[in-house]
Amino acid sequence: MNARNAMLAATLLFPLIACSDDTPPDWVPEARQQSGQLGKQLVATLTEALSEEGPAGGVQICKVEAPKIAARVSGSRFEVARTALRVRNPDNAADGWEASVLRRFKARMAEGADPAGLEAWEVETVDGNRVGRYMKAIPMGSQCVVCHGENINPELAETIDKLYPQDEATGFAPGELRGAFTVTVDLSASD
Ligand code: HEC
Repeated sequence: MNARNAMLAATLLFPLIACSDDTPPDWVPEARQQSGQLGKQLVATLTEALSEEGPAGGVQICKVEAPKIAARVSGSRFEVARTALRVRNPDNAADGWEASVLRRFKARMAEGADPAGLEAWEVETVDGNRVGRYMKAIPMGSQCVVCHGENINPELAETIDKLYPQDEATGFAPGELRGAFTVTVDLSASD
C-alpha cells in the first residue's frame, strides 16, 4: 500500500476526523481551487447584477446564472455546487454527509473558529465506485444581508417568494455560517 492509499484508507476508517488537521489526499487541492473559482465568479456576477439591476434583478440573475456558473466550473470528474442547512433553492438541499459537516462547521464557529479555514473531506464508495467529497464553509458577508438577512425589502421579498416559494435562506447575520461549497470527485478512474 503506497502512502496515498494508506491515507485514503485512514480517511475511510475515520471519515469524521478527516478534517483540515490531516494531510489531504491529492484531489483536495483541486477541489479547493474549484470551490474558490465558483465563489469568485458568483461574487463577480452578483456584484455586477446588483449594480445594474438592483436586488430584485439580482435575484433573477442569480437564479439563472448560479447553476450555470457551477456547471461551467465543474469538469468531467469534479462536480461543484453549494449547499446549506437552510436553503433558498431546494435543489441545493444538503444530503446526510453535507448536513453533518455543516453542523460540525457551526459547532466549530461557536467555539470561535474562523470560518475561512473550515473545510472537510472524505472518501465514500457508491455502487462500488470511490467518490471523494470536499466541503468549504461559506460565511455570511455584509453584502449578503440584502437577500439573506433579517429585514428584506418587501418588494424584493415578494420576488424571492415568487421564484423560491420554499425559501428558508433568510434571517442570517454577517459572520454566521450561510452554507458551504460542496465538491464531488469521481476517484474510480485514478486507481
Ligand atoms: C441579489 C440577491 C442575493 C444576494 C445579494 C446574495 N444571494 Fe445567495 N442566493 C440568492 C439566490 C436567488 C439563491 C438561489 C440560487 C439558486 O437557485 O441556486 C441564493 C443561494 C445561495 C446559496 C446556496 C444555498 C441555497 O440557499 O440555495 C448560498 C450558499 C448563498 N446564496 C450564499 C450567499 C452569500 C455568501 C452571499 C453574499 C456574498 C449571497 N448569497 C448574496 C440571492 C442572493
